[in-house]
Amino acid sequence: MSIRLRVNGTEHTLDVDPEMPLLWAVRDVLGLTGTKYGCGQALCGACSIHIDGEVVRACVTPVRRADGKAVTTIEGLSADGSHPLQKAWLELSVPQCGFCQAGQIMTAAALLAKRPKPTEQEIDESMGGNICRCGTYIRIRAAIKKAAGVSEE
Ligand code: FES
Ligand code: FES
Repeated sequence: MSIRLRVNGTEHTLDVDPEMPLLWAVRDVLGLTGTKYGCGQALCGACSIHIDGEVVRACVTPVRRADGKAVTTIEGLSADGSHPLQKAWLELSVPQCGFCQAGQIMTAAALLAKRPKPTEQEIDESMGGNICRCGTYIRIRAAIKKAAGVSEE
């Protein structure tokens, strides 16, 4: 079955099993390896990307669900790393090993697209499913606030 995807602004037609996880389509078929495989069970958030602006866990999302839709991965968040979250992440040196960070940023980006000035509670609720084994949570929260222009409490 042919699946048509618009990934980071580019149209692709993929001849793949429609049940293939979107994560494999993005990483293995399209070669966009910024999105990571962590648990494969929708438990860690490392694979978080957007379909039509909504965060999905690409490891458990069949590629057919994205047919005809716009997919955004970390590579497409901005052309040059200039998204406010990417700049804040750099300024605050958020990553440690980095493995979870694409998923963290994509989850935060969907939050800020809906809630440009999120409360602490909204940040915690949105980010709660994104696990960081290195424990960078404090810097993640600070960077989201910096990108949103809301002050640290
Ligand atoms: S790899 Fe998808 S949620 Fe962990
Ligand atoms: S920075 Fe290492 S898992 Fe998050």
